[in-house]
Amino acid sequence: MSDRDHKKGEIVAGALAPHPPHLVYAQNPPQNEPRSEGGWEVLRWGYERLRRNWSKLDYDVIVVHSPHWKTRCGTHFLGVEHFASKSVDPIFPHLFRYTYDLKVDVELSELICAEAEAEGLETQMMRNPDFRVDYGTITACHLSHPEWNKPIVCISSNQAYFDFSNEVGEARMLALGRATARAIENSGKRAVLLASCSLSHRHFTKEPETPEDMKHEHVYHNGQYLWDMKILNLIKEGKCQEVLDIMPDFIEQAMAETKDGSLTWLMGALGVPDYPGEVHGYGSVIGTGNAVVEWNPAWKSALNNGGVQ
Ligand SMILES: [Fe+2]
Repeated sequence: MSDRDHKKGEIVAGALAPHPPHLVYAQNPPQNEPRSEGGWEVLRWGYERLRRNWSKLDYDVIVVHSPHWKTRCGTHFLGVEHFASKSVDPIFPHLFRYTYDLKVDVELSELICAEAEAEGLETQMMRNPDFRVDYGTITACHLSHPEWNKPIVCISSNQAYFDFSNEVGEARMLALGRATARAIENSGKRAVLLASCSLSHRHFTKEPETPEDMKHEHVYHNGQYLWDMKILNLIKEGKCQEVLDIMPDFIEQAMAETKDGSLTWLMGALGVPDYPGEVHGYGSVIGTGNAVVEWNPAWKSALNNGGVQ
């Protein structure tokens, strides 16, 4: 039993944490084989601000929902304490060949799994020790907390949006978010949450000779950009319920990666924030729209008390 077991757990912060492997490639961390000359700095500076804020927080575990661990039926959770291997991006193997070594908080994974079941969701613990952790999890975790000294909980994305409808997917992700929040509270642990996800997601079909040559990077489509700004402006105004109200349209109109449910799960876990989220950075990566956004429940109390963030 941990020394926190007697306390009520809490979500201390959450973030929309996009996972283009380009952002890791551009940083040249020792774990990644390919070398770069940089690139996508505005987004990476956004992550820098997020890391600075989170370095002041006390937390035990990182809980991440990833669009790139796709499970055919139901929501799965990593259920093995340690994974070490190499992650190679299937589309960008020349940018991302990352050696990882991570620990999983299996106890919290099981608690969330049980609460998700109580919400009527199909669930499964993943117990294969040779399982290769997906790059959406690894990139979001690396960019948010490159020290890798905290255990993670990793949650898969299922096919509810694709098999049924965006509305069905949304309802299930909100339920999964509620389950996540309840489990964290009961665990006595302090957690940060990552929705590993881009916004608009129409991307280039041809890559420049030098991937980090920024003269080629730009918004792909103004309509998609306007959708991204609509979502981000609502978040900045603390209107996440409105974001959820238009999410099915956003998914269709902007081919948004939110169709895998990560952002809705996060909003559900945070109780659908009615206080402003902080947009640390926005930028395109191969034309897709990406934003680093942070929510901290303490900001809500500060606002209610007439304080400032
Ligand atoms: Fe992705």
